[in-house]
Amino acid sequence: MNDTPSLPPRDLLARWDDQQAAYVAHRDLRFDAMFDVLDLHLPPDFHALDLACGPGSLADRALRRFPHASFTAVDHDPLLLHVARGVLADHGDRASVLDTDLVRDDWSAPLAGRTFDAVLSSTALHWLSPTDLLRVYTRLAELLAPGAVLLNADHLRFGPDQETLRSLSAEHDTRVQRAAFAAGADTWDDWFALAAGQPGMGPVAAERERRFAGRPPQPPAPLHFHLSALRTAGFGEVGTVWQYLDDHVVLARR
Ligand SMILES: C[S@@+](CC[C@H](N)C(=O)[O-])C[C@H]1O[C@@H](n2cnc3c(N)ncnc32)[C@H](O)[C@@H]1O
Repeated sequence: MNDTPSLPPRDLLARWDDQQAAYVAHRDLRFDAMFDVLDLHLPPDFHALDLACGPGSLADRALRRFPHASFTAVDHDPLLLHVARGVLADHGDRASVLDTDLVRDDWSAPLAGRTFDAVLSSTALHWLSPTDLLRVYTRLAELLAPGAVLLNADHLRFGPDQETLRSLSAEHDTRVQRAAFAAGADTWDDWFALAAGQPGMGPVAAERERRFAGRPPQPPAPLHFHLSALRTAGFGEVGTVWQYLDDHVVLARR
């Protein structure tokens, strides 16, 4: 029996945010860039999708910044979904959390009946193969009304013909991680060990292992791949709204 006191979801979220900030140097700035676009482009009562939401960092921040907005947050990791449900419950009926696997053809079935003014995703779509990414972008273009926007924040790695940019980005990542871990941030593995060790989370952690077993890391898809895939998917205008080294926020407008 595990008699360790459980950490509240917001404490797990805070530890997650410190962990993610070790891998994404200017994570808050890139959230701000995404939210500024929503502020400039959408009415205050917009409804958005947080795609691969993790424990709810993006949706939680956005719901605090935009008090009339609402969010649907989706992911497929049961541990992260558990934390996201706990965190986003604070926003009442302005937030809902759904389980879906983006590599499935029918990944958008749980979203039936919902319409979105925006889709946001952070540090997540690099988990998808180029084929799955194009399929997800194509479905998102179908789900969004004309004028709606997609914003994807992620490391979009430089190619073999950009060796200087690639090595500057890699060295910057190394230094940021070293400083963050020295200051006490969890590593990715530390955080999942912490979450899996919470009382009652054993079966949830086992389900996580089952779901993600045998999914290899994907080859990096550079910026030009995303821009082309978004155009092919049916988005009218695509471009970068924020960049720091290889960390980008890409915008696509329906
Ligand atoms: C690095 S985390 C980022 C989470 C969150 N967006 C953030 O910025 O904190 C990557 C997320 O992608 C999710 N993910 C990976 N593959 C997925 C899939 N096939 N379907 C749904 N979510 C997936 C993971 O479960 C995880 O929550």
